[in-house]
Amino acid sequence: MPGNSVVRPALTVPGAAVDDEARHPVEPRQGTLTHSWVERDQAVVWHGFTQMSTYASNAPIIVERGEGRELIDVDGNRYLDAISSLWVTTLGHAVPELDDALRSQIDRIAHSTLLGNGNRITIEFAEALAPRLPMDRPHLLFASDGAAAVEQAIKIAFQFWTNQGISGRTKYLAFGGAYHGDTIGSLSIGAGGFGTSVFDPLRFPVLRAPGFDSPDAISGAISLIEEHAGELAAVVVEPLVQGAAGMQMRPASEFAALGRACVEHDVLLICDEVAVGFGRTGTLFASEQCGLTPDLMAVGKGITGGYLAMSATAANDRVYSAFLGADLSEATLYHGHSYSGNALAAAVGLRHLELIDEWDVMANVSARAGQLDGLLTARVAKLSGVAAVRQHGLMVGIELAPPTEGLRWGRRVSAACVAAGVLIRPLGDVVVIMAPLTITATEIERIVDVMADAIVSVTS
Ligand SMILES: Cc1ncc(COP(=O)(O)O)c(C=O)c1O
Repeated sequence: MPGNSVVRPALTVPGAAVDDEARHPVEPRQGTLTHSWVERDQAVVWHGFTQMSTYASNAPIIVERGEGRELIDVDGNRYLDAISSLWVTTLGHAVPELDDALRSQIDRIAHSTLLGNGNRITIEFAEALAPRLPMDRPHLLFASDGAAAVEQAIKIAFQFWTNQGISGRTKYLAFGGAYHGDTIGSLSIGAGGFGTSVFDPLRFPVLRAPGFDSPDAISGAISLIEEHAGELAAVVVEPLVQGAAGMQMRPASEFAALGRACVEHDVLLICDEVAVGFGRTGTLFASEQCGLTPDLMAVGKGITGGYLAMSATAANDRVYSAFLGADLSEATLYHGHSYSGNALAAAVGLRHLELIDEWDVMANVSARAGQLDGLLTARVAKLSGVAAVRQHGLMVGIELAPPTEGLRWGRRVSAACVAAGVLIRPLGDVVVIMAPLTITATEIERIVDVMADAIVSVTS
């Protein structure tokens, strides 16, 4: 494609070992500007989930700007952002309507604290978001990252019981393969992996149901709820799709029984919709198609369309009410972040919600998901190097089947896609496609064409 003749290997995979570069080399030929920016980058920036000693040799893209669903690097090369910038971008990059919302809010105020005071645009945003959440009269506690939203949810669940004088509700039930973020609390609820085992001594123990790769995931969780209800503060689940586990999925129809078990045994249900929320799976929130009405919900990533760092923990009326009491009383939730409810993020989040309706974005998600399903079935699923293709809405995991370890198929297939101008990032040997919600039919074709060619070139 024009302006994209460079060969670029994929970005570093979380937890991927620095392995047999020599046997399976990828030869980065970075443009002049990229080369010097990578040097400057490496001198001062520490990238998350990235081994910095090999950062430069993995030929990272240095993005200068975005246009629609494309990223443009400092050398002018264009990349179709098929991972929605790590699952945050919904409508695209440099969306004029979102840019305008940001600009007009800047003329008013960028930020004022939500601790003990309010901000007009944050109220307007919460008023618009709350009725869309599949919950009973939610109240929103804003934070900045998904992990913080989960952390807030698990703390709220704990204090919900103590506020009512109920002791012993100190445990959490979570799933194998779960990923809820990188703070110590969210890491504890998560199942580990991604190179995070060094932190295992810091993780508090949780009850662990099977992962979504097991048909017993939900029934196993229900048995544990029945057995341990009196000790459980909450059950934490990623409805429909465990993204970071390699896009492991359960059918929507299985989840209602989990919700019923929580109600029957009076255990709080926390739905972590940080990854699946804001349209990714075909409904605005995955809980909707799962028939779940969570007590607490964590949202983040797409909440501002991928523009600004914002997340939120939504608590239903029952949970919220348990925190009401006298001024300065112990019933208060003594938790809150400096940038909670940031006004710029709220302004963009509000306009983003309006645009989802004005543009009928969910209709596009449905059409493009159907198209993607057909193309992946016809062109990718049957390839000999592919073990499985998993998809819910626009969330896709293509599990590769390397015959031996150390072949780095995930990374190399992604590298080949990036070389062809489609930005892809794998989770181990699962190659992820997470297209923006406004992706076009032509762009879907391009992603699948590039992906199929990349898989064939690496695996045959
Ligand atoms: C389900 C889920 N929860 C929480 C998080 C953490 O979000 P953040 O990276 O914004 O802290 C992620 C990130 O991928 C996620 O997939």
